[in-house]
Amino acid sequence: MTAVSASALRRRFHHPSGDVEILRGLDLSVDAGEIVTVAGRSGSGKSALLALLGGFDSPDSGRVLLAGEPVDGAPPWHLCAVLPQALGLAGELTVAENVALPLRLRPGTDVVEERVTALLEELGIADLADRYPAEVSFGQRQRAALARAVSGRPKVLLTDEPTAHLDAASTPAVLRLLRRCAGEGAAVVIATHDDAVHAIADRRVRLTGGVLA
Ligand SMILES: Nc1ncnc2c1ncn2[C@@H]1O[C@H](COP(=O)(O)OP(=O)(O)OP(=O)(O)O)[C@@H](O)[C@H]1O
Ligand SMILES: [Mg+2]
Repeated sequence: MTAVSASALRRRFHHPSGDVEILRGLDLSVDAGEIVTVAGRSGSGKSALLALLGGFDSPDSGRVLLAGEPVDGAPPWHLCAVLPQALGLAGELTVAENVALPLRLRPGTDVVEERVTALLEELGIADLADRYPAEVSFGQRQRAALARAVSGRPKVLLTDEPTAHLDAASTPAVLRLLRRCAGEGAAVVIATHDDAVHAIADRRVRLTGGVLA
């Protein structure tokens, strides 16, 4: 089943020095249970693409469907979770409260504590549960943000450079978690420069010249 369907996406940014069209008719389709990694030079538009897929930004033309539903401007939180490059943790909530947030926003979830603890343990940050994001390292914060992204078992998981701040010892747990999310049926799109991440992909694509190759 197709979980992510992006067709003919165009996105132009305005700059004082002239407009730049970053995406030029980009197509992407990702099945449920599939991991697609997106490579591409810095500035090629990987993060811009994820923003369009997640509804944080709107294309100038073209359209995005998530699980068959059109994404019209607003992030479809019931379908999709995002690990942004800037992480976006709520600074006034502890690590554990951040990870629990998607579960608390979804009525009927009764195993919040267990799920949060299991994810933090899996990612090696259980001892940081009661700290605030500003009190943990960047790599620890990145794992907390990943835990938050996956906690609500989204149908579509969009992650931007999920291993960028991790050492070699912390990376395997992150990769195992991403693989398991796909195994549980999520469509996973990962923008990355990291060969270890590309190695777990079902399909690798490269963003170049505003389209995927
Ligand atoms: N909101 C914006 N306004 C203007 N230009 C933007 C905006 N967002 C991105 N850009 C430009 O679009 C291009 C693509 O940026 P993007 O962040 O998607 O690149 P990237 O492939 O994710 O790079 P990196 O690997 O460094 O994360 C860049 O040239 C950037 O300067
Ligand atoms: Mg980026």
